[in-house]
Amino acid sequence: MTGQGPLNLDTSRPHPARTYDWYLGGKDNYPVDEELGRKIMALEPRAKVLAQVNRAFMHRATRWLAENGVRQFLDIGTGIPTEPNLHQIAQRVVPDARVVYCDNDPIVLAHAAALLRGTPEGVTEYVQADVRQPDSIIEQARKVLDFREPVALSLVALLHFVTDEDGAYELVDRLMSELPSGSHLVVSHASADFTPQKSKEATETYKAGGITLALRSRDEVGRFFENLELVDPGVSLVVDWHPELGDPVPGQDDDVVPGYAAVGRKP
Ligand SMILES: C[S@@+](CC[C@H](N)C(=O)[O-])C[C@H]1O[C@@H](n2cnc3c(N)ncnc32)[C@H](O)[C@@H]1O
Repeated sequence: MTGQGPLNLDTSRPHPARTYDWYLGGKDNYPVDEELGRKIMALEPRAKVLAQVNRAFMHRATRWLAENGVRQFLDIGTGIPTEPNLHQIAQRVVPDARVVYCDNDPIVLAHAAALLRGTPEGVTEYVQADVRQPDSIIEQARKVLDFREPVALSLVALLHFVTDEDGAYELVDRLMSELPSGSHLVVSHASADFTPQKSKEATETYKAGGITLALRSRDEVGRFFENLELVDPGVSLVVDWHPELGDPVPGQDDDVVPGYAAVGRKP
C-alpha cells in the first residue's frame, strides 16, 4: 500500500489525530491530513481557532478537576502531544497525579515517549487501544490507576468520531461503571446545532476522507451525562465552560464555536 511508513502508519488517508495536529500547527501530519484540513478551512475558516478553543477547554477542565480533588485521569483520544499536555496541567496542581493516556492512532504511540517524558516513574502511562474496546482499556489502565479512588474519564473531542451504531453511549456507561463515586466524565463535542449546512458539508468532506463524524445536538451530548450530576454550568458552549480558569483564545469570540463541553460527577 502506498504510504505505509514506520509503525505501519497508513499515510495514504487522513486520520483524526494528524488532521487535528495540522489544525494546531504541529509537524506530525502528512499531506493527506493537511489536504483534509485545508478543505475544512475552505468551509470553516475558523477551524484552527476551534481546535485551539477545544484544547483550551481540556486545560481548564483538567485544572478544575485537579483543584477539586481528582488525582487520577484516564484520557482516551489523547492526540499527538501538544504542550502543555494533560498530565503537565494535572501534576502542576497534584504532583503525583496518575494519568493514563489512550489513543487508537499508531502515530500517537510513536510519540508516547515524548508524552511521558519528565513524569515520575509509574504515574503516567500510555495505552494503545480503541475506545470501542472499553474492557481492554480498563484492564490496562488498572496497572496505573486505582479504581477504588475517583478517576476523571476525559473524552475530549473524541465522541464525535464514535457513532451510535458503534455504541457511543454504551461504551461511556461501561467505562463509568468501573469508576467509583466521585469520579468525573469530561466531554467536549462538535455539534451541527449552530451551522447546520456547513456542518453537513464538513461531515461529507470527512466522510470522503474515510472518517465518519457523529455530530450531536445539545440534548444528545447531555445524554452522556444521564446518570451523573452535571458540574456548573452544565452542558455549555465550549468557550463558556469556566472561562475564568484560562486565557481566551485569540479570535474565539469573533463568531460561535460550534461545540459543547460538560463535566459530570458520578454520585
Ligand atoms: C480531535 S483529537 C482530540 C485530541 C485531544 N483529546 C484534545 O482534545 O486535544 C481526537 C483524537 O481521538 C482519537 N480517536 C479517534 N477515534 C478513536 C477511537 N475509536 N479510539 C481511540 N481514539 C480515537 C484520534 O486518534 C485523535 O487523537
